[in-house]
Amino acid sequence: MKIFIANWKMELAPTEAEKRARAFVRVFKEYKGEAVVCPDYLSLASVAKIFKSSPLRLGAQDAAAHERGAYTGEVSAADLSSLGVKYVLIGHSERRNFLAESNKLLAEKIKMVLAGKMVPVLCVGENAAEKKQGRAASVIREQLQGALKSLPANTLHSLVIAYEPVWAIGTGVNCDPASAAQIRTIIREWCLRIGLKKVTVLYGGSVKPENAASFIGAGGFDGLLVGGASLEASSFKKITNV
Ligand code: PGA
Repeated sequence: MKIFIANWKMELAPTEAEKRARAFVRVFKEYKGEAVVCPDYLSLASVAKIFKSSPLRLGAQDAAAHERGAYTGEVSAADLSSLGVKYVLIGHSERRNFLAESNKLLAEKIKMVLAGKMVPVLCVGENAAEKKQGRAASVIREQLQGALKSLPANTLHSLVIAYEPVWAIGTGVNCDPASAAQIRTIIREWCLRIGLKKVTVLYGGSVKPENAASFIGAGGFDGLLVGGASLEASSFKKITNV
């Protein structure tokens, strides 16, 4: 089954997030697939209540790398899990860039998410300079190696990987599906080498209703991670209909 993830980032105040969550519930009433919404931490509890008897799944945008304790500002994976969170984004490029999240830290976060029986969605992707230098493939392999090498493959059966070229995020310039498909193959091959036979790979970066089908069809991706176009229920619904 394809997975569609709405990443609401820090775009919505809690009252607005609740309003939109209600609109999502109406629009996704009869939905049979896997559609996930990741509100910010502050809105998670209220959106969880609103989604209670809807087919929509709850996701978080991050999780702490530690179980519990004196970590000011952090939220533990266990607490996310008890709220009903099913998916957790790990290593989104905005966190790697603005908060200097390292691969080592991401590995710890993935461990916590798995311990909470949730699905880690590891985000990888090259930036504009790396693309220009023809280094996309090696950057992706380094990110996978860095975040996953310390984790036994037999614990990673639920892992989802999102290929999000940094230069395509929020820019309106999506990667062309054929080039994205090449990276998808590189991700699959890398995973196979460590014994992960069936890893789910998503595409993200300026996905819109008009281009969504090309990533699933020609691109061969197992789903999409959507930012801007996921804020409106009708637009995200169109994306999930592909
Ligand atoms: P975008 O964001 O769809 O607005 O490009 C995607 C993401 O950051 O996950």
